[in-house]
Amino acid sequence: MSHPSLKGRVAVVSGAGAGIGRGIATRLLEDGVRLVISDIDATRVEDAVRDLSKIGEVVGLKADAASNQGIDATFDKAISTFGSLDILVNNAGVPDYWKTMLEVTDEFWDRHLGINLSGPFKACRAVVPIMIKQGKGVIINVASISGFRGGRSGFAYTVAKHGVIGLTRAVAIEYGEAGVRCNCISPGSVVTSLSSMDGMSEEGLKIREKGIVTRPPRAEPGDVAPAVAFLASDDSRYVNGTNLIIDAGWTAW
Ligand SMILES: NC(=O)c1ccc[n+]([C@@H]2O[C@H](COP(=O)([O-])OP(=O)(O)OC[C@H]3O[C@@H](n4cnc5c(N)ncnc54)[C@H](O)[C@@H]3O)[C@@H](O)[C@H]2O)c1
Repeated sequence: MSHPSLKGRVAVVSGAGAGIGRGIATRLLEDGVRLVISDIDATRVEDAVRDLSKIGEVVGLKADAASNQGIDATFDKAISTFGSLDILVNNAGVPDYWKTMLEVTDEFWDRHLGINLSGPFKACRAVVPIMIKQGKGVIINVASISGFRGGRSGFAYTVAKHGVIGLTRAVAIEYGEAGVRCNCISPGSVVTSLSSMDGMSEEGLKIREKGIVTRPPRAEPGDVAPAVAFLASDDSRYVNGTNLIIDAGWTAW
């Protein structure tokens, strides 16, 4: 299903050089969105822009979605290139290798929460004034089923993604009446580099393997992207502060 209201809108997708972000970028371009993609990996940005520009209007930049500087540079790019910023997808994220709490050092915690939770917070704080000025805007945060279950990833990721769902609800409540909708999606297990088993904590995996038994076949990024297109479009104009679970029923168990 396409969403005609998306045609000509301007979106930013962070971490769009690979995986789910790239799938979201592809889908939004197919619906006629004009796009700025960012990623911390310059080569991925280059590759993605080369491929995605066959579908629609897209520019890219290397930027750190965890830093105010990287966030501001990305938003400035959208406004200077396309004149507005209608849709923000906070997608960039990093794995935690299923580490248990006792395996998490201060450095790991600060880095992990800095990208997976503080990044989306800083981006929301920076984009809300732009969207209020425009009279409307849409934010979509990429959370996870780890954001409402304790056993679907390691400790730091679980805490960060619980925070992302809370962030989503708080932004929706605080700025909904000003025309800013903020929702999140919670994918189950999607085949990307983030969800590979490389470097997995044996202890963390042992604790959580019971939760894997009921896991449905894993998703591809293209299974997640249509939900983002829906939440970005006017078809979801009455949807605000929600968490859309995309896990083929895994957490229904
Ligand atoms: N793969 C899954 O099973 C799964 C499930 C639920 C939620 N998610 C979430 O989906 C989002 C995307 O994950 P993915 O699976 O596509 O991972 P991925 O590793 O395939 O892609 C993530 C991209 O983000 C980029 N990135 C990392 N840190 C960044 C930073 N500080 N600034 C800018 N870019 C940065 C990486 O370079 C990479 O290109 C994440 O928020 C992740 O937590 C993934």
